Amino acid sequence: MCGIIGIISSKEVSSRIVNSLKKLEYRGYDSAGIATLVEGNINEVKCEGRVDALEKDISKFNLKGDIGIGHVRWATHGKPSKINAHPHSSEQVSVVHNGIIENSTILKKLLEKKGYVFKSQTDTEVIAHLVTDYLKKNSLKDTIIKVLKKLHGSFALGIIFKDKNDLMIGARRGSPLAVGYGPNENYLGSDSYALKSMTNKISYLDDGEFCIIKRDQIEFFQSNGIKVNKKVMNLSKEELNYDKGDYKYFMEKEIDEQPSTIKDCINEYVDKYNNQINIYNFPWNISSLKAIVLIGCGTAYHSCLVAKYWLEQNTNLDVSIDIASEFRYRKVRFKKDSLYVFVSQSGETADTYAALELCKKNKMKTCAVVNVVESSIARDADLVLPIYCGQEIGVASTKAFLGQMLVLYMLSLKISYDQKEITKKTYHSKIKNLLLLSNSAKKTLKLDHKLLKIGKVFAQAKGCMFLGRGYSFPIALEGALKLKELAYVHAEGYPAGEMKHGPLALIEEGMPVVVIAPRDEHYLKTMSNMQEVIARGAKVLLITNKNKDEIISENIWEQIEVDKLNDELIPFLTTIPLQKLAFYSALEKGYDIDKPRNLAKSVTVE
Ligand code: F6R
Repeated sequence: MCGIIGIISSKEVSSRIVNSLKKLEYRGYDSAGIATLVEGNINEVKCEGRVDALEKDISKFNLKGDIGIGHVRWATHGKPSKINAHPHSSEQVSVVHNGIIENSTILKKLLEKKGYVFKSQTDTEVIAHLVTDYLKKNSLKDTIIKVLKKLHGSFALGIIFKDKNDLMIGARRGSPLAVGYGPNENYLGSDSYALKSMTNKISYLDDGEFCIIKRDQIEFFQSNGIKVNKKVMNLSKEELNYDKGDYKYFMEKEIDEQPSTIKDCINEYVDKYNNQINIYNFPWNISSLKAIVLIGCGTAYHSCLVAKYWLEQNTNLDVSIDIASEFRYRKVRFKKDSLYVFVSQSGETADTYAALELCKKNKMKTCAVVNVVESSIARDADLVLPIYCGQEIGVASTKAFLGQMLVLYMLSLKISYDQKEITKKTYHSKIKNLLLLSNSAKKTLKLDHKLLKIGKVFAQAKGCMFLGRGYSFPIALEGALKLKELAYVHAEGYPAGEMKHGPLALIEEGMPVVVIAPRDEHYLKTMSNMQEVIARGAKVLLITNKNKDEIISENIWEQIEVDKLNDELIPFLTTIPLQKLAFYSALEKGYDIDKPRNLAKSVTVE
């Protein structure tokens, strides 16, 4: 949600800010802007739409300056427009902001009474005027401390000052913020990905901190102004080299990477020599756990749903799952012998983070299943289980979903073995099967050609349904979500057995329906449900797995068969054709696959 960049250098910065904004575009892409300081003046260029448009505008202005900030926006307060694009400036300062200032209306009224004039409908503009107001009577550092105290809500901020050409400010509460160290120049960015073309040396601000960034020095402070020291981290080779390669879209690349991300993740957790799953530093006695609560949003929530089936199947824990935005506002009865697991690719999702904080406040055991290990959720949880799938840039989550499921599956096996719910023999055989997964995923990717044709039909549909039972029900939800967000086709995921309780009324002649029916214990029942929709005119795409028996059904429009594997692992394979289906449907419509409309990666607002 919104991307921030700042550079302070002795060379001109605007082209590098634009390049970094292009990297940050996955965080927001409805408008963009830049401000640089030139001889005591702040010069701004802003536009509605993408960074490419901003770049064209900048070339007309010949924007100079060796200090500057830039922003890509995902609108919260005020529609996407040039006037609402960041940076927002007063006569003294210019500000870029990621997050939401919840008390902006009250602050705006107070500032208007003092004579400040607002140009935009954004919550951010209050920050520019508030800083200007405090600067009249306070030092810079005291101004920042006082302004941050006044702001309610979440923010990552970058601020430059008209009369200070030797520094800029970064601050965070809730929303992530990194700084980078360069040769006689330093940087500020929403993530390391935006900074990696300039440096591999990064530090992250902790929640509530701010920093003063100069060309040759960065100082960090807690919210009360006490100085703090920071660890400087080196970005790994993988992080530095991650790009689209020969692919046109990150999503396409990220789908295709799945066999190797699966392998990498398994290598991190499975000790192949002893045939066991290692989860180091597990801080609690597994056998004393009575319940597990899995919490996430969107696709991450779907991975929790699949894990519920595994955990119930393999362990003796009470399993509940929750959508983070619901969990955080419910009157939850916290239990000491429960483990609360927070699943998030970014590790920054505002609702998931708030749910974690709520559990921490109630002294619960917390575990984070995340991709970004430097993220807020990872930093604050008692135990971190990374999914090791590398940076995910496509807004629609793909390889991270498989990674989340994989870690949750391994966690379920580990718990079940430690609880003596499964025998050593079963444990070892499940691990052996797991080692086959990457190769089966590779074979599933080869079913591509069929999906290109099928995607054309789904792209034109008025609406469609995704049906499944057992493990395949959450996969149906995930398939429907992917199609909605990428191809903008109304899609519903349903438990196949629920159709006759209402949604069957939606089925009409020619409606595309995906039925996910691997040859598991639910197969025959799902086949009957499939016949019920076929009988009412549905055009069925059946996704099943290979088996010596013929498919027993007739009148199926199209069929995809994934590999035969242990039933528990089939959700990994049936997901892949659904990702491809959404991809090809969006491609057919010519949509921007990596940046679907109205969305953004890393949802740091409520
Ligand atoms: C859908 C998608 C979202 C995210 C959700 C949570 O393709 O990507 O539904 O899964 O916003 O994000 P994280 O996992 O970063 O917490």
